[in-house]
Amino acid sequence: MGFTEKQEGLVKESWEVLKQDIPHFSLRFFSLILEIAPGAKNMFSFLRESEEIPQNNPKLKAHAVKVFKMTCESAIQLREKGEVVVADTTLKYLGTVHVKSGVKDPHFGVVKEALIRTIEEAIGEEKWNEEMKNAWGEAYDQLAEAIKAEMKNHH
Ligand code: HEM
Repeated sequence: MGFTEKQEGLVKESWEVLKQDIPHFSLRFFSLILEIAPGAKNMFSFLRESEEIPQNNPKLKAHAVKVFKMTCESAIQLREKGEVVVADTTLKYLGTVHVKSGVKDPHFGVVKEALIRTIEEAIGEEKWNEEMKNAWGEAYDQLAEAIKAEMKNHH
């Protein structure tokens, strides 16, 4: 069975919760990325410049929101079309930016883990469940595969 309407609904519903406090969840997301992979710090221009994670940095927020939002859009596409389609120019840009920043395939696993844990915290223990985790996980994986494939054209 493909990506269901229910799975799409679970992703949309939790994105609504994240949206209520982007500054907090962006920061939490980055803290988790660096907790899992401290070395990732040096790849982000806005993290290289400071000792601590900046509290209110527009670039940090932008990246977090892009990951949250594009994963949510992927969930919608998976349900509608059965696949994730990223606009050509966007995908090319994503390929270039990540290769240039030194991002490697395994980093996508780190970001996935941080994403899932951020959403789990946002939703709260009582409402969080495997179904929600798998829906986000699947949407993220398909998006990440598209970016990783594109990155192979930009070395
Ligand atoms: C830049 C999206 C995964 C590290 C960017 C940009 C976008 C983006 C749109 C351009 C700058 C911006 O608009 O903020 C995504 C999406 C991802 C993803 C949708 C996964 C689905 C990753 C991963 C890493 C990473 C796994 C590494 C841990 C970076 C870095 C930059 C960047 C270092 C440059 C930012 C800077 O230094 O200012 N990403 N990204 N991204 N991304 Fe990602």
